Amino acid sequence: MLSEKSRPVIEATIGIIAERIPNITPVFYKSMFEARPDLLDGMFSRANQKNGTQPQALAGSIAMFASHLLNHPDSYPDEVLSRVAHKHTSLGLLPEEYPTVHEHLFGAIAADLGDAATPEVVAAWDEVYWLMADALIKIEKGLYSQQANDVMFAPFRLISKEQVADGVVAFEFEPADDTPMTPSVAGQYISIQVVVKDGLRQPRQFTLVPSDPGHRRIVVREDPEGEVSPILHEDIEVGDVLEISNPYGDVTLDPDFDGPLVLVSAGIGVTPVVAFLDQLAREDPEREVLVLHADRSEAAWPGRELVRDYVSRMPNAKLVSWLAAPGEGDFEGHMDVSQVEIPEGAEVFMCGPLAFMQSVRSQLVAGGVPGRAIHYEIFGPDLWMLHDEARTA
Ligand code: HEM
Repeated sequence: MLSEKSRPVIEATIGIIAERIPNITPVFYKSMFEARPDLLDGMFSRANQKNGTQPQALAGSIAMFASHLLNHPDSYPDEVLSRVAHKHTSLGLLPEEYPTVHEHLFGAIAADLGDAATPEVVAAWDEVYWLMADALIKIEKGLYSQQANDVMFAPFRLISKEQVADGVVAFEFEPADDTPMTPSVAGQYISIQVVVKDGLRQPRQFTLVPSDPGHRRIVVREDPEGEVSPILHEDIEVGDVLEISNPYGDVTLDPDFDGPLVLVSAGIGVTPVVAFLDQLAREDPEREVLVLHADRSEAAWPGRELVRDYVSRMPNAKLVSWLAAPGEGDFEGHMDVSQVEIPEGAEVFMCGPLAFMQSVRSQLVAGGVPGRAIHYEIFGPDLWMLHDEARTA
């Protein structure tokens, strides 16, 4: 809980801090990476630094946390903390690194605010930073303690590589040493470190899809402009060994909820849906499930046979598709959920590009689905959660 001394100072300065974040973050990251270039080797994604999404997400989340403390003094924004902690642990972040971010972030804030960074202002924001850091460290410790091993990454050998749709390849890995494997829950992801052209290790997260027992399987769409997916697609071959993290991620099915489910995806966002369907087909095949997918065409839709197969084995499951290619899907063009009946009391899981999810979420809310029943997985830093009071309150 924020102290009574800091509360009025945060109230008075949150506006200016939030407004200055775009100016503060470049200075913060520049000074941090100058002092600690090793953080770009295996920890931070260079691509997300270049496009600015991660710096904005990190600094923006602190402003959002402060605003939550002002508006809801007795609670924390659990959903945001959980998402960040899962991402951090998938990268092997340790508590010792929190002073690093603190030092460079606060250096940048002081430089930007100039005389306005009085000792009272700095002390109040310090308190916010450490409340948030301590909350994250606690969740991260808990996540690490649930693992079957005490390493952050373990070596895995690629044992198969197959194209599953236009520009989409499935990779299956087996352990390359005797590190015990933590079992994954449907919807979780792993971080994989790939050595890129200049020798740096670059991590990326990929949803786990069903695999043979004791293996890890991912499905990757190639981004020709990307730094990592072209290497996976073109350079990594069967027999190669890559470093893979334990499974993390909190967008998973609630074991205590047995009502209807709506699984919504577009493009490669189908991966968590495939994982959920696999779990449901095994453990709860009678479940009422509505699967909605949007794609460019039949050929571009990854996992289409798998999805159809799961749905055909579940008597109360139904699949509806929106494909841009004329005549190929149930509907043509963009997904419009008013064309289907959303089951009463359903929990919704979405994964796909941000604009797609924003559109579908608005349609669902307009159709009467409560915002809190809509869960989503976003590939890359989540800037959406920082601007959505409905989800963070
Ligand atoms: C990701 C917040 C401390 C390294 C993130 C994200 C947020 C965040 C919001 C984006 C999560 C997502 O949506 O994917 C914070 C806050 C911190 C903190 C509030 C302190 C209170 C640290 C520290 C490090 C670190 C100390 C390491 C020195 C990272 C990395 C990512 C990340 C590597 C993923 C970056 C990427 O792939 O682009 N953090 N973080 N964070 N954070 Fe932190």
